[in-house]
Amino acid sequence: MNQKKEVGEKAIDYIEDGMIVGLGTGSTVFFTITKLGELVQKGLSIKGIPTSKQTEKLANKVGIPLISFDEVEQIDVAIDGADEVAPDLNLIKGGGGALLREKIIANAAKTFIVVADPNKNVPKLGSFPLPVEVLPFGFEMTKKKIQNLGLTAHLRQVQGKPFLTDNGNYILDFLIPDMTNLKELERKLNLIPGVIENGLFLGVTDIYITLDREEDNSIVVRHRNNV
Ligand code: 5RP
Repeated sequence: MNQKKEVGEKAIDYIEDGMIVGLGTGSTVFFTITKLGELVQKGLSIKGIPTSKQTEKLANKVGIPLISFDEVEQIDVAIDGADEVAPDLNLIKGGGGALLREKIIANAAKTFIVVADPNKNVPKLGSFPLPVEVLPFGFEMTKKKIQNLGLTAHLRQVQGKPFLTDNGNYILDFLIPDMTNLKELERKLNLIPGVIENGLFLGVTDIYITLDREEDNSIVVRHRNNV
């Protein structure tokens, strides 16, 4: 059984003809997008807004028509993966470096659906380093300012060079100390010049699709209002 495929494809239940759909990034939502492509070939009429260049490429490959922000008032549903999911459905995202576009699209969506295998479920957020997208200009200073908040930072690198986001920015990955007030951390991060966005997705998830690891790996769907 492919857990990512199971949860990724389950999200299709929430898609209806005529919808504008935010398309997330990563190996779980890959299965959502691939399945959506199959349904589009069979006549489903939707338009997608991708959260990354990688997803844009995939959507084009599977034949999902794309639409730009200037053509829409609102996104009906956005579907995305996560790196960590807490019991209150707060998330850490950005392991793939797409957090900025992902957050813009999640916030623009009427319904934000998260799909993740049960390995992503944690009692509290923070084992996965928190990605923060920063402007390359003066990033050393931005990093110091963030470290002053008590966090340990690492510049994300690929083959010895800084990883570049789709927006041309850097990512700093932070270890969050235990007992950190995440709402407060988010607020403080957003006040630092040079910080563009952080990977905390607090209070954004409407529906969470995962598997029940303790029972029989059956699908579990949780809603924001009865977390
Ligand atoms: C990318 C993300 C992804 O949604 C997250 O990393 C989960 O990816 P995957 O489904 O491959 O485990 O936030 O920026």
